[in-house]
Amino acid sequence: QAAAAAPAAPNGCAANGHANGHANGADVTKAEPFVMLGGLEGHVEGILRCRRIVFIACGTSYHACLAARKTLEDFAAMPVVVELAGDFMDREAPVFRDDTCVFVSQSGETADTLRALEYAKNKGALCVGVTNTVGSAISNATHCGVHLNAGFEIGVASTKAYTSQIVALTMVALLLGADSRAKAPKRLEAMRALARLPEDVSRALALDEDMRALAGQLKDAQSLIFFGRGYNYSTALEAALKVKEVALIHSEGINAGEMKHGPLALVDENLPIIVIATQDGMHRKMVSVIEQLLARNGKLIILCNGDDPDMDAFAARGCSLIRVPATVDALQPIVNIVPLQLLSYHLTTLRGFNVDQPRNLAKSVTVT
Ligand code: F6R
Repeated sequence: QAAAAAPAAPNGCAANGHANGHANGADVTKAEPFVMLGGLEGHVEGILRCRRIVFIACGTSYHACLAARKTLEDFAAMPVVVELAGDFMDREAPVFRDDTCVFVSQSGETADTLRALEYAKNKGALCVGVTNTVGSAISNATHCGVHLNAGFEIGVASTKAYTSQIVALTMVALLLGADSRAKAPKRLEAMRALARLPEDVSRALALDEDMRALAGQLKDAQSLIFFGRGYNYSTALEAALKVKEVALIHSEGINAGEMKHGPLALVDENLPIIVIATQDGMHRKMVSVIEQLLARNGKLIILCNGDDPDMDAFAARGCSLIRVPATVDALQPIVNIVPLQLLSYHLTTLRGFNVDQPRNLAKSVTVT
């Protein structure tokens, strides 16, 4: 299985109804486009009335929740918290009857997530599942939810499930915010961008050869650092997870806002640093991060949009660039992760490891 894969197309049927099999999709061909998620039918009012949304997941699925958090905050105008399922249960964190807990899991069988689901259900919360596996324990035990329909994911490392999870959660956000007149223009822009997403992802996949060449330069690195912030903090975390789990290189994803609180000490002319600096709401801050890294002779690879003049200037100062298509802020993490998944894939094969079956790992973690 290829390491990177396009997310399920959102236009028409990104995911099937969770419980009742109704079709889902963002229909942008009509004058008034709308999102339909059959598996949430009858529950939208309840979710909108709740005190907060609590996302609970592990690993890559947790990163997808982080990527989508701000989209939910923006469109649904609700407080959103994101929890690692294991940590949530270690703390036996408070859950209230008027919470909506969303359990995100590719397999639908992850033991920590399932345990958190039983716990939240006992506390009386509305429990929503977002899984890629019809009939899985999580999809059966939740009150309602969304199936990804990303197709069977064979490789141990989650790739297409990640991008499809962000698509599905974005659609949930659009659905929850459907009645906000103030958000209507932004909502329309997001729906049009969803319809264009397969094309944007195809263009990102076309970077395959470039990523193979970059992997050739990085394959003997002791460590790789990814810096991102805002929507793309999740991109940094997810790229680092892919590099460590399949290419077996130490890697860290760091929130660029934390750079001065410690990580800056690591920067020298040897450590490869990949900076995610696409033209979203964090762009100006990321430009400043790049300046500070260059002032310490950082060896930078910058993931940016195609037509960004700031980045041309950085290229002239010795930075390597990975150019990806631009989309709306909420969907940019989907496009951004694709070349980084490809990079992990090529690092893995060049280092002689098995990309589908990483050392010591299983596809679903059914023990706590
Ligand atoms: C990483 C990976 C894992 C899973 C995690 C949760 O590539 O696959 O981090 O994301 O074990 O699995 P699910 O999503 O099945 O609950």
